Amino acid sequence: MSARRTVAVQPPRTCATAGAGSAIDGRLQAILERILAAELTTIGFPAARDIDYRPLAPLWGRLLNNVGDPNTDPLHTGHVHDLEREVLDFMADLFRAPSGWSGYVTSGGTEGNLYGLWLGRTRLSNSVVYHSTAAHYSVPKACHLLGLPAVEVTTTATGQMDYSDLTRKAARHRSRPAIVVATIGTTMTEAVDDVTHVHNALDVAGIRHRHVHSDGALAGVPLATTTSRPAFDLADGADSISVSGHKFFGTPVVCGIVLNRRKPEEFSPTVPYLATCDTTISGSRSGLATAMLWHATTSLGAAGHADRARRAREVAAYAVERLHHVGWPAWRNPLSFTVLLRPLPADMAATWPLPTEGDWSHVICMPGVETSHIDHLVDTLAAYASDPD
Ligand SMILES: Cc1ncc(COP(=O)(O)O)c(C=O)c1O
Repeated sequence: MSARRTVAVQPPRTCATAGAGSAIDGRLQAILERILAAELTTIGFPAARDIDYRPLAPLWGRLLNNVGDPNTDPLHTGHVHDLEREVLDFMADLFRAPSGWSGYVTSGGTEGNLYGLWLGRTRLSNSVVYHSTAAHYSVPKACHLLGLPAVEVTTTATGQMDYSDLTRKAARHRSRPAIVVATIGTTMTEAVDDVTHVHNALDVAGIRHRHVHSDGALAGVPLATTTSRPAFDLADGADSISVSGHKFFGTPVVCGIVLNRRKPEEFSPTVPYLATCDTTISGSRSGLATAMLWHATTSLGAAGHADRARRAREVAAYAVERLHHVGWPAWRNPLSFTVLLRPLPADMAATWPLPTEGDWSHVICMPGVETSHIDHLVDTLAAYASDPD
């Protein structure tokens, strides 16, 4: 009879060595202090900070992997596909999706644009992409990745696509289908391209086969909560639409959402080892980010987000008014949170890091930016202007 071998159960090995704990705490504390110290003057970037995500803390520490199609639960239990489906239903209502729509939670607006262009390329072979010069840099990058030819369309002074230029340029390729990316809130001026005008421009150019993707990374959600706004959602004629989750919803993990007016089945193979379908660009996807989106959408609802958007626009209007009052040139597009202003004096720019292109910088009055932030900026600016030394 052979001797029975016993296996001793070892305690989990940790990677930390003696003394490392306090060094790590120190580094993390320093990062937190750096972020908090800059909070009053960090108003140039589009991340809302008014929603409290701490109720999700109990989920932190467990892997939540939403791999695969949201409508098919994977084999493992560490996922929140149920929450993802609720988030997608909320977004489908918001963006007035027709029956038969599909979608998923992405890693951000960039993946949403890649997916929208991929959908267009899959539906319409030999197509040409049109996007404005103000489109996000992820758009030409996605065209490059997908091997799609891209044509840049000029914009008006405020950053909206010039539809006559779209007609002119599309007419040169009228024998080929068109994929048009409409930007719903451009990165610098928050200008909104109108999908109805895009369709009209393609009609005039004689192009029937088309896919319109709305890049709503910045302004898709807040605009959807208002009634008098440009046409951009699925009921308005977009074929796909994407948003970032960390912008208007302010999730503390970067993420996004993309919706497609059609079902994705025709090009989505099954993955036997996961028991799911491959309908997404990323394989593993963050369930934690999805839980955050679910928290933002269910705790506030469409009415709560409409209120947040209205309040943010009031702060933006206040900023323009205050800047004008001290003689500093400023303007904003209708319904936008973004306020364009002449670049700050160099001394101030070090404290207020405001994105700048050409003659204009911007502040973005995302929810969480209050009139006190604007007062601090404008009062400092007025003091500089009256005594530059
Ligand atoms: C208009 C627009 N599209 C896409 C993106 C990319 O989004 P993300 O940073 O979530 O990938 C941005 C980001 O600033 C944007 O402003």
